[in-house]
Amino acid sequence: MTDTTTKPAASQVLDRVLVLEMVRVTEAAAIGASKLIGRGDEKAADAAAVEAMRAAFNELWMDGTVVIGEGERDEAPMLYIGEKVGAAPGTGPKIDIALDPLEGTTITAKAGPNALAVLAVAEEGGLLNAPDVYMDKLAVGPGYPDGIISLDKSPTENVKAVAAAKGVEPHEIIVCVLDRPRHADLIAELRGIGCGVVLIGDGDVAGVIAVTNEETTIDLYMGSGGAPEGVLAAAALRCVGGQFNGRLLFRNDDERARAAKWGITDLNKIYTRDELAKGDCIFAATGVTDGSLLKGVKVHKNGVMTTESVVMRASSGTVRWVKGEHRKPR
Ligand code: FBP
Repeated sequence: MTDTTTKPAASQVLDRVLVLEMVRVTEAAAIGASKLIGRGDEKAADAAAVEAMRAAFNELWMDGTVVIGEGERDEAPMLYIGEKVGAAPGTGPKIDIALDPLEGTTITAKAGPNALAVLAVAEEGGLLNAPDVYMDKLAVGPGYPDGIISLDKSPTENVKAVAAAKGVEPHEIIVCVLDRPRHADLIAELRGIGCGVVLIGDGDVAGVIAVTNEETTIDLYMGSGGAPEGVLAAAALRCVGGQFNGRLLFRNDDERARAAKWGITDLNKIYTRDELAKGDCIFAATGVTDGSLLKGVKVHKNGVMTTESVVMRASSGTVRWVKGEHRKPR
């Protein structure tokens, strides 16, 4: 018979203690940021989400370490890389955390779609300590043969490979891309072969996850965005399926030095999904504004706030959609 009073084995830590707790954390951040939706103040929205997320983490019985956070210690007062969170330092389960309390600060300030409070947790060492640089990203949804996409191939080659496997023509493939001047050539190439290009203003975690949701009709995600967001998206794909490639992009020596600091020596390496997030991991997100994945925080006439969240776990592939009603101010 299993002795349930003993400390859980490392492989059970995420399962037994944390899955639903993580929703509380992203809910708190989303509710914190929601008061600033459409108020034109990105910094205030981010600060509210950060403060609420940190307070929620500190209520949990765990020995957490932020491995992807708000920045380095000298530039971020809270939830900086290396910060310890949780109510049981030294005694609770050792958990590595990648977080973005407000993914889509500009979206929130402008009340646009797809802002999320998001995090991924893994056993110690499970998440790549990605420096805060850009990452070239490529993602496809579940159901395709392993290795069907690669950052070593051109966008056209990747589209053709996915189209052939899907049994459609390349011009029937839909690709999601961040709307940035740096993507002008990519967008022109995709439109040149007739693809539909869904341009998003911000929020590439939701953009990548969209490839896993047939309702979005998006087949592929392509283009560069934040590396930390790449690790978060890879963690989500670990749970629900789909393939991901990420390659860090360095614009100057300072960024290369940051990579060295985190032990990254091969600057051209293409990271697969499982190299960015390995072992058992949990991904959780709560909508701040309405989006393709989740509805945003709503305040109702009776003062009740509602939230929509999703929490997923890699080892089981379980996906739970959680609707929250919050009656007391947090
Ligand atoms: P923030 O929430 O930090 O503003 O990030 C939003 C975002 O759109 C990310 O989703 C994306 O990875 C990154 O910005 C892209 O960076 P840039 O705006 O410099 O192109």
